[in-house]
Amino acid sequence: MTEQDHKPLRLAIAGLGTVGVGVLKILQKNGELIAARTGRAVEVTAVSARSRDKDRGVDLSAVAWEDDPVALAARDDVDVVLELIGGSDGAAKSLVEQALNNKKHVVTANKALIAHHGAGLADIAVAKGVALNFEAAVAGGIPIVKALKESLQANDYGRVYGILNGTCNYILTEMEETGRDFADVLKDAQALGYAEADPSFDVGGIDAAHKLAILAGLAFGYDIDFDAVQVDGVEQITANDINLSKSLGYRIKLIGSTSLIDGALAQEVGPMLVPHGTPISDVSGVFNAVAVEGDFINQCFFEGPGAGEGPTASAVMGDVIDIARGLVTPPLGLVGGGRGPAKVADKDAHIGAFYVHLMLRDEPGGMAAVTNIFSDHDISIASMLQSERAEIAGDPVPVVLITHETTAARLNVAISAISGLKANAALPRVLPIATFGE
Ligand SMILES: NC(=O)c1ccc[n+]([C@@H]2O[C@H](COP(=O)([O-])OP(=O)(O)OC[C@H]3O[C@@H](n4cnc5c(N)ncnc54)[C@H](OP(=O)(O)O)[C@@H]3O)[C@@H](O)[C@H]2O)c1
Repeated sequence: MTEQDHKPLRLAIAGLGTVGVGVLKILQKNGELIAARTGRAVEVTAVSARSRDKDRGVDLSAVAWEDDPVALAARDDVDVVLELIGGSDGAAKSLVEQALNNKKHVVTANKALIAHHGAGLADIAVAKGVALNFEAAVAGGIPIVKALKESLQANDYGRVYGILNGTCNYILTEMEETGRDFADVLKDAQALGYAEADPSFDVGGIDAAHKLAILAGLAFGYDIDFDAVQVDGVEQITANDINLSKSLGYRIKLIGSTSLIDGALAQEVGPMLVPHGTPISDVSGVFNAVAVEGDFINQCFFEGPGAGEGPTASAVMGDVIDIARGLVTPPLGLVGGGRGPAKVADKDAHIGAFYVHLMLRDEPGGMAAVTNIFSDHDISIASMLQSERAEIAGDPVPVVLITHETTAARLNVAISAISGLKANAALPRVLPIATFGE
């Protein structure tokens, strides 16, 4: 370490919400511990947020205040800028760009920013010789970014998949445990602070897709490409789907999964059935989990708190500690540039078994017409469940079919034929069945 490395590391914090305040609390409680572990003090010299008057429960009397967060990037008394504002563009992006261009290290928790602009920002950081660290952007307190870009990098990665959104996992877990419907449980999640007032990014799968795009970039070295993620949310999942899946030996989870298929990058986020008894099926409530397959590790499974003040601030401070020790690694784990844009895998190429939920009118010939269509398209049925008979003949009843392995392309053709049947009373719901952990 040089003399410079023993000087206090000076932080600017932009954003004093859940995560920003969490960072201040860690420094307040564990500042000495961190100084002992890094060999230098870590101190906050300047901050910025929208409202200067808000009581945030932390003492800010000794630090400078900037109304404009971008001004933090130009201060001489700042070595590292912590971007904890959020949003893929606007103030967060301007601040990070300015800071990197001014040769300040940057730590951010902002998944939207990295998912949309990660490749370009990483190029600036590498060109300027500074850090752009974003551990907190994926799966909160779980150290998955570091694992992929450092500890496991001797492996050729296979599939990387996981539960990347605690709100959805909480909702699905509650639906299973209480038998209540989606809308009802969502209201509870909002009251408990697990879901935002506008929950669309979470329940629509966008938040998980941001994280998955980052994981895919880290694992496979292509440019992070959020727009290529196929995204489906959990809004359509009913208590009935959860019950029927349970009786067939599965749980429904919102899964993000990425892999290379014949050199093309597959990135999917959506509800899937996972077999009971697999590690991922047992991840419940607001927890996150990520599994990494690699040719020399087989599989590593990480589970932990995916959000919240403490876990997220802990991940931010882990990144700061690296910088305090003088460790600057390439943001995406690539020295000498990445592999450029990926070829995008055909979404209909997905091969596997599927869960098909139909509402069929309880009348003679309806079921036979469905099974004929499957057989015409060479899709065999592994199991079938009809949970109830209609009270009035001809009324629709739920029917669930589990297929044997087939392609999404073939299944889609069969499903559109079934949709046109007279006996079919609602849009069929199709969910892939995961083969994780087998
Ligand atoms: N919360 C989590 O559990 C979690 C987990 C992982 C990652 N993250 C990420 O961490 C980041 C921060 O999240 P958060 O939950 O802490 O958000 P938050 O509680 O909403 O806080 C955002 C902060 O940014 C400030 N801000 C907003 N616009 C600003 C602007 N134009 N100029 C200056 N300050 C501005 C706000 O100021 P005021 O307080 O004055 O309004 C607030 O202090 C986001 O990127 C988020 O995705 C959060």
